[in-house]
Amino acid sequence: MTGSPRKDPMSQRKLFVTTALPYANGKFHIGHIMEYIQADIWVRHQRMGGHMVHFVGADDAHGAPIMIAAEKAGRTPQAFVGEIAAGRKAYLDGFHVRFDNWHSTDSPENTELAQGIYKALKARGLITTRTIEQFYDPVKGMFLPDRYIKGECPVCHAKDQYGDSCEVCSSVYSPTELIEPYSTLTGAKPELRSSDHYFFQLSNPQVVDFLQAWTQDGKLQAEVAKKAGEWFEAGMADWDISRDAPYFGIEIPDAPGKYFYVWLDAPIGYLASLKNHFDKGQARDHWHAPSRTAASFDQFVADPSVEQVHFIGKDIVYFHTLFWPAMLKFSGRKTPDQVNVHGFITVSGEKMSKSRGTGIDPLKYLSLGMNPEWLRYYIAAKLNGRVEDVDFNPDDFVARVNADLVGKYVNIASRAVKFIPGGKLVAGHPSALHPQKLVDEVRALFEAREYGKALREIMAFADEVNLRFDTAAPWKLVKEGRGEDAAKVCSDCLEAFKVLTACLKPVLPELAAQAEAFLKCEPLDWTNAAKPLGAGHQVGEYKHLMQRVDMKQVDALFEPPAEPVPQKPVPGGEEIAPVITIDDFTKIDLRIARIVECKAVGGSTKLLQLTLDVGEGRLRNVFSGIASAYQPADLVGKLTVMVANLAPRKMKFGVSEGMVLAASHADEKARGGIYVLEPWPGAEPGLRVR
Ligand code: 2FM
Ligand code: ZN
Repeated sequence: MTGSPRKDPMSQRKLFVTTALPYANGKFHIGHIMEYIQADIWVRHQRMGGHMVHFVGADDAHGAPIMIAAEKAGRTPQAFVGEIAAGRKAYLDGFHVRFDNWHSTDSPENTELAQGIYKALKARGLITTRTIEQFYDPVKGMFLPDRYIKGECPVCHAKDQYGDSCEVCSSVYSPTELIEPYSTLTGAKPELRSSDHYFFQLSNPQVVDFLQAWTQDGKLQAEVAKKAGEWFEAGMADWDISRDAPYFGIEIPDAPGKYFYVWLDAPIGYLASLKNHFDKGQARDHWHAPSRTAASFDQFVADPSVEQVHFIGKDIVYFHTLFWPAMLKFSGRKTPDQVNVHGFITVSGEKMSKSRGTGIDPLKYLSLGMNPEWLRYYIAAKLNGRVEDVDFNPDDFVARVNADLVGKYVNIASRAVKFIPGGKLVAGHPSALHPQKLVDEVRALFEAREYGKALREIMAFADEVNLRFDTAAPWKLVKEGRGEDAAKVCSDCLEAFKVLTACLKPVLPELAAQAEAFLKCEPLDWTNAAKPLGAGHQVGEYKHLMQRVDMKQVDALFEPPAEPVPQKPVPGGEEIAPVITIDDFTKIDLRIARIVECKAVGGSTKLLQLTLDVGEGRLRNVFSGIASAYQPADLVGKLTVMVANLAPRKMKFGVSEGMVLAASHADEKARGGIYVLEPWPGAEPGLRVR
């Protein structure tokens, strides 16, 4: 940040910029990296204009999925999210994404801010409580979020469908409509229980009026404002902001056992990270008083001239254009000035999954030695100010980077410097190329997040420069004894190279730094971008600035991981499940069991009730869906294999304490045949199967 222009304080903007806070239960995927690159380019562009920016991020740490994932990993939620957080730096440094601060929503700052905002909303009379009925897992002892309930679709009767919608027929329903619902956490049949929930009254007329005005005053992208308009037409419902213990989250003041729903405290995490940044004394005003902290957090966020700018994906617009501004407004805070929404990234036209990402693993990209600025350039070339998806096409990637960056931009410096004796520039006509016009246009395009257009302008200028070079043919001029004319043209080309470097700097900060070192110029920004280096300026020794992309690297990037993942159907009609480790396998405790007793279950045509001896000095009760294949008498006295450490499952007919192993076709109903496993002679109850 050294050497940034000192601007007139009146025109200096104060910006608070964020990207969506990633859930702390997974690594970054290419979708995150795209968003960070988009925001980082914008921030670097602002800094080149002399504006003050605080650019912060944080981990979104709370919520049931993270609590459950931590439990599965045998860790506390804090330790679990801490491990994920520790892995963030490699990605951010790797792709030159320079946040000023990275924090967590599971922090004292966020607790204080979230509770404060809640209390302010309550004082305005905008919080109500209501008793709601919800599914409860009696084995786990917790209310179940919809995603942890599965059952038979009430419409098409497909099995194992999620609590909110069917993946087979796309019907949307509520979990209570599922046929034979079960908890995916324990297999237990969920019970309907009631509990008091806290609601933020989004339907309150003053909230609705505010949001209608806020979303329709022209600050949002047209397609986002349109979407918000549709939501108003459908009507605003109050927002359920509480969850019952056990929950990994922030406690609601004066409401024992109640926590804020993760989406309440997530955006407040933007403020928490900013506060943490200020409190660490790092939020300095680099341009006006580099040694002094600019203001306190409270002063800064209350300052009406501060602009609050969020970069987010199109899937979380509802939260950022309704809940978030309403929370801020009615707790007496400033509301966002920009919510910049981008589309998703697809790879060769294919949508990526939110949890698995796509074929591009960002760390693999880096470990293959691929230049992070190739990706920054390519993504920027595809981005615009609208909510459009961005497609990563491998061939296009190689072609663009090689043609534009290496073939057009870098080529200018490497060719021109050869004809400037001693690297000392001579007077030519650099302004004939209209550098100021380019800088002004490009700057405006970066401001509007029209990065693709900006790069096209930049490359068109590079084309002009290369054409000038080729037309002048300095190598011929030298042969003709007109070395001075060659030096003039090439000095103009290097002046143009400097302008291009400044224009590319938000996208390619490292390459620009190397080019600045070669040009021996002061750090480039928007005020000095078009200013000529001038006759007599001495440039440094040229060292190659950028390698071309090798298609082999791209092929390696898309090579599937080494584990075999069979794709072809196998007998039985079911694909082999994803690869697990030996540790995964040993978690399952399989034991030899003797079937001591077996009887039919009254009221069920599917189940048999087995009494099993697993050598524990007690007997187990297990229900097994094998009644269509066996008579109870066939089984009594036989040995079989059971899962001995399966969580007990409460069923309609009693508690099942394990599971007997049996083989069947995927479509067992149509094809018939269930085959209970039986060990070879000699096995005894209690022996472990491994
Ligand atoms: O969708 C998500 O990945 C959320 N973790 C985004 C949160 S953004 C903000 F509100 F914190
Ligand atoms: Zn269905």
